[in-house]
Amino acid sequence: MVFRRFFDRGSKEESPPAQDTVSDMETTDESAVEEELESGEPEVDAEQDDADILTRARAVLPMGTSTGSKRVEALYGSADSTGPTHFSQAVGCRVVDVDGNEYVDCTMALGAVALGYAEPNVSRAVADAIANGNVCGLADAREVDVAERLCGIIPCADKVQFLKSGAEAMAAAVRIARTYTARDLVIGSGYFGWLDWCSDEAAGVPKKTKDDFRRVAFDDVAALERAVSEAGDRLAAIAIEPVVERMPSTDWIQRARELATKTGAALIFDEMKTGFRLKTGGYQAFADVVPDIAAFGKAMANGFPLAAVVGDRDLMDASRKTWISSTLGGESVALAAAGAVLAWHDAGDVCGSLWTIGAELRRVLTGAIEASGVDGIAVDGIDPMWFLRFDDPAREQRFLELAASHGVLFKRGAYNFAALAHDEDAIREIERGASSALVDLRDEDASR
Ligand SMILES: Cc1ncc(COP(=O)(O)O)c(C=O)c1O
Repeated sequence: MVFRRFFDRGSKEESPPAQDTVSDMETTDESAVEEELESGEPEVDAEQDDADILTRARAVLPMGTSTGSKRVEALYGSADSTGPTHFSQAVGCRVVDVDGNEYVDCTMALGAVALGYAEPNVSRAVADAIANGNVCGLADAREVDVAERLCGIIPCADKVQFLKSGAEAMAAAVRIARTYTARDLVIGSGYFGWLDWCSDEAAGVPKKTKDDFRRVAFDDVAALERAVSEAGDRLAAIAIEPVVERMPSTDWIQRARELATKTGAALIFDEMKTGFRLKTGGYQAFADVVPDIAAFGKAMANGFPLAAVVGDRDLMDASRKTWISSTLGGESVALAAAGAVLAWHDAGDVCGSLWTIGAELRRVLTGAIEASGVDGIAVDGIDPMWFLRFDDPAREQRFLELAASHGVLFKRGAYNFAALAHDEDAIREIERGASSALVDLRDEDASR
């Protein structure tokens, strides 16, 4: 029996003799699979092998990558940029690209990683989960454990449902609000992922769906009041990404809370980036404004695919009247990763450290910009999630390429994220790389 050795692993008793019918069906040679995995190289034909990774990616992935923010044009500002695009290793805050070049990373997987890449405790918990089988037809007890722990940490959380992506968790939050209120219109401010309900500008979304979503500007009290008044008794939810480049005014957030309560709509916070970062329990724990429902993800499982919709008991129970379900929603690997992340947050003030580390990163970069005399660049945002603001997109692209050539990766047009892995050495290297890139940029500007 070709698969005997594999199936025998983990079985306590001797396997029954193989059925002829089963062995007749087996045609795969296990050793060939092992050989390919051990070589570390998938089989590609010779022509493909000669092409660089980006050419191959563009041939088989419509955008060149499955994540919009990882397209070359998103990374650097233009499709013909020279910066690195694919990694072979990410450990701590250090990334190695497919050509073997090393970088100190400030992007931290779009905020999905706050401890550091391949953090050993998370990796151990994940390896244990894998060794015991990461999924079966029954639920994993870790689902209950992690849900209980989230309820103890997140102010609005009485109940939890796990999903895999942030977009799914926000879609579930809105579905729950619509079910509970029996209304359809949602007012939103922020980015909530790619799904139809909030894609008011994307192609391929029915007009009817777009009509049920009204976007309002961040931190604009008058716009929010107007939208709520126009929505009348159709308003199911006000969905807010609470931090966009800066903290919102207390007025705006409190007004959103009051208006939702007054109209009987649900207040939803999207805590994808703020959860496990500003405070473990998210912006709501930081600012002391409690929504009815919230969605978490990203740093909650330090880069493993897990998201959660959490909220008030009565609202969350409305999910029993509709249908929200995912085959791999309660899959063990991501839950084990979340358990390890929660242990980190139990053991110390992870978020406090992220604020301190982020403040130091911002300080050294501000200093490097000032020392270089280069203008048109500023460090903005808040300490745990900060960004570089450029007046000129062409100079932004050139700076990002130069920084990469000096061994530092920064995110274009979006946040860089502080991580525990940004230790003193890494911060000094980031400072040096940024300074060298700025000097090169200044010299290039001068020679024009
Ligand atoms: C605030 C916010 N909400 C939702 C999402 C979507 O999350 P995902 O990409 O995991 O679906 C993101 C992703 O960047 C986000 O930043």
